[in-house]
Amino acid sequence: MFLLSVLLSIYSATRKGTGNREQGTVRSERVSRFRNVLRIVIGIPSGVTGVERRAVIEAASQAGARDVRLIDEPVAAAIGAGLPVAEPTGNMIVDIGGGTTEVAVLSLQGTVLSESVRVAGDELNDAIILYMKKVHNLVIGEQTAEDIKIKMGSAYPTYADEDNIMEVRGIHLLSGLPRTVTIKAPEVRESMAEPLSIIIDAVKRTLERTPPELAADIIDRGIMLAGGGALLKGIDTLISHETGIITHIAADPLCCVVLGTGRVLENFKQLERVFSGSSRNF
Ligand SMILES: Nc1ncnc2c1ncn2[C@@H]1O[C@H](COP(=O)(O)OP(=O)(O)OP(=O)(O)O)[C@@H](O)[C@H]1O
Ligand SMILES: [Mg+2]
Repeated sequence: MFLLSVLLSIYSATRKGTGNREQGTVRSERVSRFRNVLRIVIGIPSGVTGVERRAVIEAASQAGARDVRLIDEPVAAAIGAGLPVAEPTGNMIVDIGGGTTEVAVLSLQGTVLSESVRVAGDELNDAIILYMKKVHNLVIGEQTAEDIKIKMGSAYPTYADEDNIMEVRGIHLLSGLPRTVTIKAPEVRESMAEPLSIIIDAVKRTLERTPPELAADIIDRGIMLAGGGALLKGIDTLISHETGIITHIAADPLCCVVLGTGRVLENFKQLERVFSGSSRNF
């Protein structure tokens, strides 16, 4: 189900120094604060259908917005990560979220090609849960799996790996009683190998489909990682190792989409071509 993993950035006409002040002021006195919203930019996953896009625009219009713009989340993430998406060069962004990983090649404010796979952080947790059950006969919950992933999960080996251990509490599958098991970092990495390989394959497929000139730019500039999944230790090294292309992690991966959407609003005229839908088209 498509949902608003959406992020809204609201541009109010009552904001100091912007918009038609006369009109905005009169209305701001009469209507609720929400109704003063003039322009809304909404980030949407790149794979949504035309019907879903229209539904989002309609919902925002009904809420009082007069100018609704849609931006594909990978584009917003790339802008938030500081990629020069307006330039005539190729940029690759990989946004590893909770439910989906979106890989996109961008140039001249537009998406040249993109791929979305329903494998991301949640699938890594599921893989850890399954591994604990199969190998350690231990039933653990979603939150414990998340803790394991964040504290000792990694996508690529490091020197201190073997010494990185953690005690995990859960329910023993056979006795039904609480039990503590000690696990090591390499086995956590191994448990996540399959979902990680699906993410890597999506990146490789997108690179293979990229036009040669843009691919050359990506080789020069590297791949940019965004989304919470970019915080998994060693994910940049793994992607770099698998693709042969240097891979960077955005400064604030969890906030790239919101930062990018905000930047679009601040530079609305210069970045007007980034939108993938607008209330004016409907
Ligand atoms: N330090 C970390 N190490 C590994 N994974 C992390 C870390 N911090 C957050 N995550 C993971 O990042 C994911 C959430 O990222 P993000 O907020 O970008 O997703 P989202 O935008 O809500 O999801 P989607 O884009 O799929 O709709 C979760 O799966 C979370 O476990
Ligand atoms: Mg996301």
